[in-house]
Amino acid sequence: MDTILVRGNGPLNGEIEIAGAKNACLTLMPATLLTDEPLTLTNAPRLSDIRTMTELLRSLGAEVADLQDGRVLALSSHALSSHRADYDIVRKMRASILVLGPMLARDGQAIVSLPGGCAIGARPVDLHLRALEAMGAELDLRDGYVHAKAPMGGLRGAVIEFPLVSVGATENALLAATLARGTTVLKNAAREPEIVDLARCLRRMGAQIEGEGTGTITIQGVDRLSGATHPVVTDRIELGTYMLAPAICGGEVTCLGGRIELVESFCETLDQAGISVTESDRGLTVSRKNGRVNAVNVVTEPFPGFPTDLQAQMMALLCTADGVSELEETIFENRFMHAPELARMGARIEVHGGHARVTGVDRLRGAPVMATDLRASVSLILAGLAAEGETIVSRVYHLDRGYEKVVRKLRGVGADIERIKEQPAHGE
Ligand code: UD1
Repeated sequence: MDTILVRGNGPLNGEIEIAGAKNACLTLMPATLLTDEPLTLTNAPRLSDIRTMTELLRSLGAEVADLQDGRVLALSSHALSSHRADYDIVRKMRASILVLGPMLARDGQAIVSLPGGCAIGARPVDLHLRALEAMGAELDLRDGYVHAKAPMGGLRGAVIEFPLVSVGATENALLAATLARGTTVLKNAAREPEIVDLARCLRRMGAQIEGEGTGTITIQGVDRLSGATHPVVTDRIELGTYMLAPAICGGEVTCLGGRIELVESFCETLDQAGISVTESDRGLTVSRKNGRVNAVNVVTEPFPGFPTDLQAQMMALLCTADGVSELEETIFENRFMHAPELARMGARIEVHGGHARVTGVDRLRGAPVMATDLRASVSLILAGLAAEGETIVSRVYHLDRGYEKVVRKLRGVGADIERIKEQPAHGE
């Protein structure tokens, strides 16, 4: 397996281009299943998760072509040849469950493997299933699969109040409701920019949707959807990650394409930590206000709160802040697996359940560390950039799921980082 070698070498300066959002693209791609006309997504990120969704859609009979080196995805689902999403693909990526709603809405049937647990917690899909049941779907859970059928005449609109905010369940219900008969109201819906992006794309396809970005989304079902071309929204998690690079190392970096509205609560936290963020037409420029980083407290919350997907990276910053920071993870249990790895680099972190207390130290020291999930892996790279000596991050396949060209992007602002390809076991 490849590893990434990072050597701390001082301030970073320059520009980093931010890609289209992985999590938006993963919910936009299944929208192809709602129409027999072509759907074209521009500004797509080039990531292994996108390739997994491509493989899944192809296994259902959709055509997916990647053009312009993967930047543009041309999708077409003239007729589906299968309605079964196999365990072999679904187990690789939880977002595979997002094909369930569209297949049910269009063809009245779907068989989708249950995703199972993952490194950051149990992550059930009960809310996805309850929403579809409320729309009349008959669900049967057998052999690790959800066997789903729409009632005669198709899914019907319903008022669905989610007991807790779920990005994926909101997306699945929104996708399905576009073709349901009548009106669907999603209450306590997720408000993430990726949901807003999905609603915009569906509207371009002819869907009637109101209220995206608020807690109540209303969808008036239509008989059919058409094709569309849609640009994928900027990846706010990649954005926040690279904003932390100059915060941790010093220097000044502009994240091209970044907008404050995507990362507002994160910017407020950075401000308290002594990090300045300025917005221009080109993006967000980040630097330390006075050379120091202050300890801050962080509580992860659904959007517009502080994103759980930036918690690990923020912790890397706080390892060398002045004072004690408290981090509370409220979205996922077991999402502090980066803490023991950061501790191997000299960080002082105590974890108790969903709380972590970070006492800032003067300096981190490079060490061999292991990535345990996508965001944890990039937090170790950020920490390595600020550490004395060499850090070797292993299991970097997690990183390939969500960060394109991370080595090239960080080298572009002066980081000393390289990917070391796995040596073949024998000879050559
Ligand atoms: C999405 C993002 C992920 C992000 C997360 C929270 C994608 C592909 N992934 O994941 O990067 O970390 O939002 O911002 O967009 N839950 C249930 N039952 C369900 C569904 C969720 O109990 O049916 C729980 C989860 O276990 C979790 C919480 O609800 O504790 C939020 O999860 P959810 O918002 O659904 O996350 P995902 O859509 O899986």
